Amino acid sequence: MCGIVGYAGWRDAESVLVEGLRALEYRGYDSYGLAILSDGAVSVVKDAGRISDYRTGGTIYSGTVGIGHTRWATHGVPSAINAHPHTDCTGNFAIVHNGIIENYSALRSELAAAGHVFASETDSEVIAHLFEACYDGDMMAALRQVTGRLEGSYAVLVIAAQEGVIAAARNRSPLVIGVGDGEVVCASDLVPVIPYTREVIFLEDGDCAVVSKDALWIENGGDVVTRAPEFIAYDPESAKKTGFAHYMIKEIFEEPEAFSRTLNAMQDTEEMQRVMEGAARVTVVASGTSYHAGMIFRYLMEEFSTIPVRTEIASEFRYVRPSPDEVVLVISQSGETADALAALRRAKFHRCRTVALTNTLGSSITREADHVFYTMAGPEISVAATKSFIAQLAALMKMVSLSRGASCSLLLADVKQAIEAVLQLEMIRATDLCAGASTLIAIGRGVFYPVALEGALKMKEISYIHAEGYAGGELKHGPIALLSGETPVIAFVPPGETRTLMIGNLKEIASRQAPIIAFADPDDVDVADIAEVVIPVRHRNVFADVAAYTVAAQMLSYEVAKKLGRDIDKPRNLAKSVTVE
Ligand code: AGP
Repeated sequence: MCGIVGYAGWRDAESVLVEGLRALEYRGYDSYGLAILSDGAVSVVKDAGRISDYRTGGTIYSGTVGIGHTRWATHGVPSAINAHPHTDCTGNFAIVHNGIIENYSALRSELAAAGHVFASETDSEVIAHLFEACYDGDMMAALRQVTGRLEGSYAVLVIAAQEGVIAAARNRSPLVIGVGDGEVVCASDLVPVIPYTREVIFLEDGDCAVVSKDALWIENGGDVVTRAPEFIAYDPESAKKTGFAHYMIKEIFEEPEAFSRTLNAMQDTEEMQRVMEGAARVTVVASGTSYHAGMIFRYLMEEFSTIPVRTEIASEFRYVRPSPDEVVLVISQSGETADALAALRRAKFHRCRTVALTNTLGSSITREADHVFYTMAGPEISVAATKSFIAQLAALMKMVSLSRGASCSLLLADVKQAIEAVLQLEMIRATDLCAGASTLIAIGRGVFYPVALEGALKMKEISYIHAEGYAGGELKHGPIALLSGETPVIAFVPPGETRTLMIGNLKEIASRQAPIIAFADPDDVDVADIAEVVIPVRHRNVFADVAAYTVAAQMLSYEVAKKLGRDIDKPRNLAKSVTVE
């Protein structure tokens, strides 16, 4: 979590850093700060709150070299003192850090015993004091020594009053360097870099770099390394809100395209076919929404293929032992989720073949997996995953259709249209019902069980209403005790094999006076009889229905959060890229 950005060049560093931090806010947004080199001194400004609260001009000295940070607190509350940049005792060094320094406590004691005075509660501040202790007129030498003392994950940027350069280092946290004409931009991801240059170097674990407006020096393990910049094709317009009230709803409306783009990109994927054909078993490992995509994959594979699939929550994978004959499929929109990365490494340690499915070019999981497939969702700015989930479904459905014994590729043809139809739905009654509740329950069966889980996750994450997803059959095993007239139940009741038992569940719910919001086919009169509100989703086939029901649930969450006036694109306590375990 946390976003970092650095600039060295000829432009006004403050403006570049502030723009960059705005683009990185999805990574954390509880506090922010900037440090700029100005006439041989380091000038710092930082505060609790969001970078959008900051007014450029006047607060900080101007200069053309600087670093910035937007924070998601791990060590120490969100406050001005704990915000980055952190400085050493002299104020000559300023650092910004994304990651966790696991041995910070020992380092802090050692540095304090040597007379260093700490201002914050953060793990990161030790880096500034280590620089003070190690610097002897050579930034690279100091960086080498400092990183040699750090255990944990870091993407770190440092400026020093005596130097016109930025020192940068990466270990298990992403860091890219954009190389422009007389300027460099360093950042946690591509978005702050792209307005200035498309030539980008992705630093690797163990890299130490010293960059200035016209020079670049990278070492790894003490050896100088050459990393050629890659050209990045990217449309900056796609990361703008373009008339929508929120990124989330804009991104929901981009889902039909995200689905078909991803599907097209997979058209001739012989590599994927080989991977799926050779697999004795597939284990899907992922977190949050990506985990729900994995669960859907499992149900579809069980129905259409002969390959057994299990799913594991990434953070729990460290407690299970995979066997070498399984293919471990890691799904992560960001490609940086620490739990997913740790799971990938564990799978490799146990000699499993690994496959990564991600939306993010050059992200950490793409460097470590044996096979990499990309979803083509484009940049997703809202913290809530919507179009990235639908793009994951496209890739996963394609994988199902390429699997041993499967014959379902025709079903894929209906999905885009099904999503488009859902975008026209109106949900006023359902929105009112949900917005007035303090607890919501979502239920579904079979492949619609993960749809219910995802519906509940989306609802709680952006509306802050307590929402839980259950398998329809589980309701009677405990959650039914929660039902009353004040507890709306959101039910996914498509035609097909789950319908009869779901109708039984609806009757049980109605007998407890709980209002039912049912997502169902418009012609289903039985559902219409029992439910208080029906959100009509026309039945096509299981692939199309899964996608359409999920999108409809995303829209309901959006409408509820909007009605409640929530901060939809940046919900409290969350971040888009969760880089702590
Ligand atoms: C989705 O809306 C959530 N913000 C969250 O659950 C997310 O899906 C999870 O953190 C996994 O992220 P990833 O796909 O980038 O690994």
